[in-house]
Amino acid sequence: MTESVTTTTDGSIESEQTTVDERTSAESEEQTKPEWREYSFAGEPVLSVEDLNVWYGDDHALKDISIEIPEQSVTALIGPSGCGKSTFLRCLNRMNDRIKEARVEGTVEFNGQDIYADAANLVELRKRVGMVFQHPNPFPKSIRENVAYGPRKHGDLNRGLVARLLGQDEKEAEDELVEQCLRDAALWEEVSDRLEDNALGLSGGQQQRLCIARCLAVDPEVILMDEPASALDPIATAKIEDLIESLAEEYTVVIVTHNMQQAARISDQTAVFLTGGELVEYGDTDQVFENPQSQRVEDYITGKFG
Ligand SMILES: Nc1ncnc2c1ncn2[C@@H]1O[C@H](COP(=O)(O)OP(=O)(O)OP(=O)(O)O)[C@@H](O)[C@H]1O
Ligand SMILES: [Mg+2]
Repeated sequence: MTESVTTTTDGSIESEQTTVDERTSAESEEQTKPEWREYSFAGEPVLSVEDLNVWYGDDHALKDISIEIPEQSVTALIGPSGCGKSTFLRCLNRMNDRIKEARVEGTVEFNGQDIYADAANLVELRKRVGMVFQHPNPFPKSIRENVAYGPRKHGDLNRGLVARLLGQDEKEAEDELVEQCLRDAALWEEVSDRLEDNALGLSGGQQQRLCIARCLAVDPEVILMDEPASALDPIATAKIEDLIESLAEEYTVVIVTHNMQQAARISDQTAVFLTGGELVEYGDTDQVFENPQSQRVEDYITGKFG
């Protein structure tokens, strides 16, 4: 029980037992309704998740998550710390496979293909469903090498992605690819005269845009971002936000953020996870923020907890 102290008009101090905890416990008994998560949109989903459950040992981190993500849009994942946002994001390109104690059950389809099927090609999956992390993690190599790394590794300079450039020599093809990706990541103007410099000499915001350029270079369809701007100052954050909005014209972006204004500003649809690993509400971002259906979601969005 929380105690609040009020000073009365005669100057005496009154102590009052508030109902905060009682209300919280009542809210935690809130029965979620499937219609709170029903979100209809035109076209086929790029990612389709059904009855996804994740455990870390005995800890049941995600419970029965079902959600469909539309293409060429921004989907924001919000919710208090520990509710499973990063876990969910990692399920979308099987990054949880790298965590020994993680166990995943359920179905995740990418363009109708089950990514957890035995025949799934993980290298191809992680190229098509790329990831950008909270802290920019460029390689300690030149700016150019950071962008060209993936295509060089996968041999894409001679096929697929830059097939239209066949006939050019590899250096020219690489130059063109590096420039295009840096332009798409809104970084070209700032680095075009120092492509051979070490990427670690860039500012945090520039490094994050470089990581986005590196992700674009392997020709993804979906870009997963886990709090990509939380370590950046407001100006760098604004650049990343503008960039995300423009990327959604071509790519499908799924972004975890703790910043409500950011989610409201840049996303088309919002999924709210709450403590215990439940997806409580999913819908059009304006609707979720202006007229949430769950009392707990309203309390979270208005800052009553989290
Ligand atoms: N590698 C791991 N090993 C064991 N437990 C983990 C691991 N990663 C996450 N968890 C647990 O799973 C739950 C969800 O964690 P997750 O990191 O997905 O939350 P989150 O919503 O991303 O939180 P935050 O907002 O703080 O980043 C937490 O209880 C966490 O302790
Ligand atoms: Mg997280």
